[in-house]
Amino acid sequence: MRSVAPEPIAGQTVLVTGGAGYIGSHTVRALRAADRPVVVLDSLELGTADAVIDAPLVVGDIADEALVEQVCRDHDVGSVVHFAAYKNVGESMTDPGKYFHNNVDGTVHLVEAVLRAGVQQMVFSSSCSVYGTPPTVPVDESAPIAPESVYADTKAMIERVLRWYGMTSGLRAVSLRYFNAAGASVDSRIGEDWSYALNLIPVAMRALLLGDPPQLQVYGTDYPTPDGTCIRDYIHVDDLADAHVKSLDHLDRGGDTVEINVGTGIGSSVLEVLNAIGAVAGRPVPHELAPRRAGDPVSTYAEPSRAAEVLGWRAAHGLDEIVRTAYAWHLAQLGD
Ligand code: WQD
Repeated sequence: MRSVAPEPIAGQTVLVTGGAGYIGSHTVRALRAADRPVVVLDSLELGTADAVIDAPLVVGDIADEALVEQVCRDHDVGSVVHFAAYKNVGESMTDPGKYFHNNVDGTVHLVEAVLRAGVQQMVFSSSCSVYGTPPTVPVDESAPIAPESVYADTKAMIERVLRWYGMTSGLRAVSLRYFNAAGASVDSRIGEDWSYALNLIPVAMRALLLGDPPQLQVYGTDYPTPDGTCIRDYIHVDDLADAHVKSLDHLDRGGDTVEINVGTGIGSSVLEVLNAIGAVAGRPVPHELAPRRAGDPVSTYAEPSRAAEVLGWRAAHGLDEIVRTAYAWHLAQLGD
């Protein structure tokens, strides 16, 4: 393993699709902190221009091949970090076409366009959901790919699409299989907009700070876990961002296509998360016990050693810091 990151290739800009979104905007900041020139491509359908701060932003669609090719040529793009995608699991089951069109077909257009512009390196936002319910935990990258939603399968499909473009066109890609992204930047400058997020931590913050919905529903308390609630691997968004920077370093030193778990390796239950939030806020999260949510795996958390071996990456933040930064950011939003 190399311990020192190579210098970025001179003049080679990183194109960040979806850079105005939650994980994308944290990654844009991390790339700039690592002195990598960046250009963001975002439709702003779900992202916000504010979140890119002062990075160059092109408003447009990843499926617009002429635009993507032009952006690559105008900005001397050398690699792509591709976030732009829909991510609502429930919606993907009621409107699958939206997910196939955007997440799959849109990505194929993006890849075709960047290859034409001579770009052969990509970091892709994949998901731990490609494993479905893992047969054993912690789950490593050799576990079977068994997506349980259209959303998850769009991620699995693109991992394969990228491997095929490796065979046909020399593209090299790192697919990062995120576990449960959470938290906000330490300076409370950017975070996760709770207006459309359905994930545990933003929903808990809304219940705590707005009473909206009046109570958080704990989906299932009769699982075969120590406290009866589901176990997940919550990973700080700045740690995720850092994994992208290190993935680009891997590609710059000629690294091969690889799929990598990005998690802490530590599982936390729903009630442990609520307790951690309650401890930071000084009052409990209003919640009620509810039936299981369809499709929830009982327990999933990462075996993160491939990330350490291939990228030299490991998580620096734990659940307490996730909860503390998320709470600070949501409080700051209320003050605006
Ligand atoms: C976490 C836990 C819920 C809301 C999502 C994506 C997945 C992957 C990771 C990216 C579960 C419980 C939640 C609530 C609750 N990401 N919960 N009440 O479903 O683990 O995974 O992020 O691709 O694809 O689906 O995340 O935050 O929805 O749920 O009790 O109001 O919190 O049952 O156990 P999930 P989540």
